[in-house]
Amino acid sequence: KRLLPLLAMFALVLSGCGREDLSVLRPQGPVAQGQLDLIKLSISIMVVVMVVVFAIAAYVLVKFRRKKGQDEVPEQVEGNFKLEVIWTAIPLLLVLILAVPTIQKVFAYDQIDWNDPEAVKVEVTGHQFWWEFYYPDHDIRTAQELVIPVGKKIAFQLKTNDVLHSFWVPSLGGKRDTNTEGTVNYLTLIADNENTYIGKCAELCGASHAYMEFRVKAVDDATFDAWVNAFKQPAVLPADTELAEKFRTNCLSCHAVGDQGGPIGPSLTGIGSRETIASILLNDISGAEGSKPVKDNLVEWLMDPQAVKPGNTMPDPKDLGFSDEEIEQIAEYLANYKLDY
Ligand code: CUA
Repeated sequence: KRLLPLLAMFALVLSGCGREDLSVLRPQGPVAQGQLDLIKLSISIMVVVMVVVFAIAAYVLVKFRRKKGQDEVPEQVEGNFKLEVIWTAIPLLLVLILAVPTIQKVFAYDQIDWNDPEAVKVEVTGHQFWWEFYYPDHDIRTAQELVIPVGKKIAFQLKTNDVLHSFWVPSLGGKRDTNTEGTVNYLTLIADNENTYIGKCAELCGASHAYMEFRVKAVDDATFDAWVNAFKQPAVLPADTELAEKFRTNCLSCHAVGDQGGPIGPSLTGIGSRETIASILLNDISGAEGSKPVKDNLVEWLMDPQAVKPGNTMPDPKDLGFSDEEIEQIAEYLANYKLDY
């Protein structure tokens, strides 16, 4: 009876791991599959070790227990050459069995792929608290939502703009840190299936670390080419010239739309087609539970960015002189800024 609450608690903890789209146990590509194979190998070895050790311990406890009428201290022994050799050799062998495939996998998808002409290159930069994605071959700089062709090697170069972050797409593999001190990391991922995968920052990096998500949209080749083409279209600005000017002087000093603006904040190009606003407000096009129209999410964000993502560096639009009505208009404009692909 005492075991029951314990088991219930255990079940509860396990069920907490049930977010399918964040599970390393459901690999969606060869890199993630390789990592899962390693996890299985290490768990198998651990289970065998545990069973053998527990069995020996139980045997010794029973066999050498104090028997009735036995009062004297049993004979004390010290040192056994044969046993010591065995219990040194076995762990050594087990570590080797683990190390060889681990090292193979670590180097299999590394910076060699950065020079592979077949690979799609993406320079990833971590920011507090958003992700920048630059495709050097296409000269495209986007944010929060990575679009990749399915089945292709995607070679990532990982950097940070401020503190340590860690780039992780549980379904596809990873994770690897974005280092400070200019050390650059590399990682290659491949998606087997067309789907939207969730990426995470896996290194505590500040107040909104938990909200530093991103999306990975794996699409077929034709859709990827269409996305690249749509992304490179000239910028769309608000139709109202006065609002457009205000948008240009304020927002575009950090953000970019198309070929205009800057790379300091996340790119807003085609933001109306993304599945999230600020990576955590779910847009209805994602079809996710609790999602809202893009415009509503944009209004929520623009009215109070700190309430959505504490500690982010976006200035409060109201402090910049935007009225509530203008914020509505900007949200309307951005929600309609979609990419046709
Ligand atoms: Cu970035 Cu945690």
